[in-house]
Amino acid sequence: MNTPNLSRRRFLQTSALAGLGASLAGLSLGGGNAAAQTMTPPKEGVDQGRVLPRPAGQKPVHALITHPLERVRVAVIGLHRGLTHVQAALDLEFADVIAVCDILDDRARQAADECERRRGKRPVVYSGTEKIWEQMVERDDIDVVYIATPWAWHVPMALRTMECGKHAFLEVAAAVTVEECWRLVNTSERTQRHCVMLENCCYGENELFVLNMAREGVFGELTHAECAYIHDLRRVLFELGGEGDWRRNYHWQLDGNLYPTHGLGPVAQYLGIGGGDQFKFIVSMSSRERNLTKHRDEQKPNGGRHAGEKYVCGDMNTSLVKTELGRTIMIQHDVVSPRPYSRINALSGTGGTFFDYPARLAINDPKSYGLEARGSHEWLGDRDLAAMRQRFTHPLWRKLAERAKGHGHDGMDFVMNWRHLDCVRRGTTPDSVAYDAAAWSCIIELSGRSVATGSLPVVIPDFTRGLWKTMKLLAIADPTSSLS
Ligand SMILES: NC(=O)c1ccc[n+]([C@@H]2O[C@H](COP(=O)([O-])OP(=O)(O)OC[C@H]3O[C@@H](n4cnc5c(N)ncnc54)[C@H](O)[C@@H]3O)[C@@H](O)[C@H]2O)c1
Repeated sequence: MNTPNLSRRRFLQTSALAGLGASLAGLSLGGGNAAAQTMTPPKEGVDQGRVLPRPAGQKPVHALITHPLERVRVAVIGLHRGLTHVQAALDLEFADVIAVCDILDDRARQAADECERRRGKRPVVYSGTEKIWEQMVERDDIDVVYIATPWAWHVPMALRTMECGKHAFLEVAAAVTVEECWRLVNTSERTQRHCVMLENCCYGENELFVLNMAREGVFGELTHAECAYIHDLRRVLFELGGEGDWRRNYHWQLDGNLYPTHGLGPVAQYLGIGGGDQFKFIVSMSSRERNLTKHRDEQKPNGGRHAGEKYVCGDMNTSLVKTELGRTIMIQHDVVSPRPYSRINALSGTGGTFFDYPARLAINDPKSYGLEARGSHEWLGDRDLAAMRQRFTHPLWRKLAERAKGHGHDGMDFVMNWRHLDCVRRGTTPDSVAYDAAAWSCIIELSGRSVATGSLPVVIPDFTRGLWKTMKLLAIADPTSSLS
């Protein structure tokens, strides 16, 4: 892999990372932070406040209907992770890849080569400079722009994309600061374009299985969920020419949860966050920082050039979110400890409990489902669990399982892309909109705020501005809605 030609100093000048520093001024910022040290003054519709009046000229987007399209024309920026989205689009009979963009010319050309090989038509290539994407999003033959770049670019690219009349499909996390989250919401509402965060974990087989059981009442009244991003990334965080060039920077910027959405997205959908319930406040606590420093000091990656870096992000961050309906969500983040991968993916209610890694289900009244188990003191046996899967596999997964084989992350990347692009094709609202992208992403800054104040509760903004009370369930979560 080649290294994007961006120095660290230039990265710190870009809006998101500089915005993070400005927004977190006064918190525990570590060495090497060149960001400003004063709070960003509140702006209209861009405040930390919980409910703000909707600025004039904006309309809600939770039920945004757009013109149906015969074919969906996509463009992709950032062709490492973004290549997955190119490949998924090439497998969709109703999608065309019109243009591809990466600073690195060879990455853009390789993506274009693949399109040409498989479809016989070469997309237009934009490459060579860090602003070339601006020309691409101005084209008048694109419906959707995928943004799969380092986090600092997500928001500027998404804002411009929507201003230019296209839907913005953003990799995770959509934004790093609360202010950026409001910008996504306000621009989506003003332009009436979708701002969809590409949270592929919402489309995992187990996640859709649990979502379907939740909607079908298996868990009864929902009370508690647990989720995480636990993934040993120590080697990746020092990789040159990839995420190591930018992702480790956040470990000296913020002590909190740097990657909440893989765990939180699915459980937010189980709980109907944004459609009947809403996040209310968060408390967060971090362990001491040890593993990244230890790895750096022992392995001396890249010839020992990182010796001066001071990491402030605790190895394990644990946050608790309380919802308006009194439910609780535990969210963990640990990307530096020697332990196996887990998103926990747990849900509990009056009717039963599910835990993942590995998948386990306990049911309060197994007999009502014709199961062999006698009660909920033990997890269901293999036969019972298989019977529940047979009955409650989500219709979307049933429909797409075969086609998803061989695609990224056990097929969930394909299911997600099929679903979002199919919504755009039909002109219906995607399963998650700007409010969800903002609510799930704002945990980054807010967990940091709570950690920095001795784990005090921090209010979570209501990006729907009160609409959550009346918003319908997501189509994907509504057992009565057709997904065909
Ligand atoms: N959902 C998932 O499972 C998943 C998996 C991996 C990464 N991601 C997300 O995808 C995004 C990208 O991650 P990655 O691993 O591909 O990072 P990466 O650093 O490996 O690749 C980023 C690519 O973007 C290009 N790029 C950077 N700035 C650009 C600009 N201004 N214009 C055009 N191209 C630019 C780089 O040249 C590079 O090819 C991140 O947001 C990450 O969190 C999500």
